[in-house]
Amino acid sequence: MTGRLQGKSALITGSARGIGRAFAEAYIREGATVAIADINLERATETAQALGAAAYAVQMDVTSQTSIDAAIRTVEEKTGGLDILINNAALFDLAPIVEITRESFDRLYAINVAGTLFTLQAAAKSMIARGKGGKIINMASQAGRRGEALVAVYCSTKAAVISLTQSAGLDLIKHGINVNAIAPGVVDGEHWDGVDAHFAKYENRPLGEKKRLVGEAVPFGRMGRAEDLTGMAIFLASHEADYIVAQTYNVDGGNWMS
Ligand SMILES: NC(=O)c1ccc[n+]([C@@H]2O[C@H](COP(=O)([O-])OP(=O)(O)OC[C@H]3O[C@@H](n4cnc5c(N)ncnc54)[C@H](O)[C@@H]3O)[C@@H](O)[C@H]2O)c1
Repeated sequence: MTGRLQGKSALITGSARGIGRAFAEAYIREGATVAIADINLERATETAQALGAAAYAVQMDVTSQTSIDAAIRTVEEKTGGLDILINNAALFDLAPIVEITRESFDRLYAINVAGTLFTLQAAAKSMIARGKGGKIINMASQAGRRGEALVAVYCSTKAAVISLTQSAGLDLIKHGINVNAIAPGVVDGEHWDGVDAHFAKYENRPLGEKKRLVGEAVPFGRMGRAEDLTGMAIFLASHEADYIVAQTYNVDGGNWMS
């Protein structure tokens, strides 16, 4: 049986670890070739080596237009053209409103919002020039569905990702490019270890407590795992999702309804 993404060329930003890495692994299982594009080249190289011949590492900083353009060019040269982009790279930060710094705001918006938009734009230009359409998946979050005390900046960047998905989805479907998004809930991994440490500081909790509590609160009964998201990522990149435009899907064990 051939995979659902047989012969497709994908680029996944921030895929050296975490959810992006799980997406890369799943796409390769479905027959795709995947650019492990990350700001951390050393880790991207390790990941690409671990995932085998269908993966290759690309250094990419989504805050730099030069870097975005170079990464897309590399994919074009290596595989003949880009079919699938997952805008997955993002940064988290947390602070009470009165302690938010402009530095943190600028950094999060540069990666989570501008990074998503301009990587999406570069991928769309490449896909339009090739004339074969494509699939673009943005990583939103339950944090983008409503604000959270302490998480104002990150939540608002993810709300922006949902909005950009709508606008880009509507604009690009005439080129056969589907833009959709996935909104995970709480997913265990190195990212959430960092989130837990932030909450420990601001809510005066022992390390690990916040993570345990958020996991217990998920209707499904536990935190998400990166593997819980791969089904949706494969589906949205496949032909089965051709008629799906500008949507954001919650994959969160029942944490949020919208
Ligand atoms: N983990 C969760 O609970 C959760 C929940 C909701 C949404 N999400 C979203 O899912 C996505 C993946 O999350 P994760 O938990 O795997 O995160 P992660 O922090 O484990 O991985 C992020 C990756 O992005 C890379 N990166 C950071 N800055 C970059 C830049 N400027 N250019 C390129 N790469 C860069 C990092 O090196 C890292 O490999 C993110 O968009 C995140 O906001 C995660």
